[in-house]
Amino acid sequence: MYRIENHPILPEFHRGKRVAFLFDGKEYEGFEGEPIAIALRDNGVMVHHYTAKRAEPRGIFCAIGRCNDCVMIVDGAPNIRTCVTPLQAGMKVETQYGTSNEGVTGRQ
Ligand code: FES
Repeated sequence: MYRIENHPILPEFHRGKRVAFLFDGKEYEGFEGEPIAIALRDNGVMVHHYTAKRAEPRGIFCAIGRCNDCVMIVDGAPNIRTCVTPLQAGMKVETQYGTSNEGVTGRQ
């Protein structure tokens, strides 16, 4: 995927080291400390959860921790806002169906 390397306005930014994490049982890579949602986006993952009532897909919307569209199950904990949660090596990230890790409304 495409990442901005040089921004015309922002100063040089420093990335953490490359780390592996699991998304729905498959191994992906991202940079330590970047938001989980960004690491997923860089790997082509756009859907983070499915709504409880209509099983509609949701992904990054506000990207500042306000809308909850990016919530996922992270290391077994549901409703984690991945746009503001830093990636760490070995994290287990899963698509969330409904409002918890127990409800599977909409799971196909
Ligand atoms: S995208 Fe809105 S809370 Fe993460």
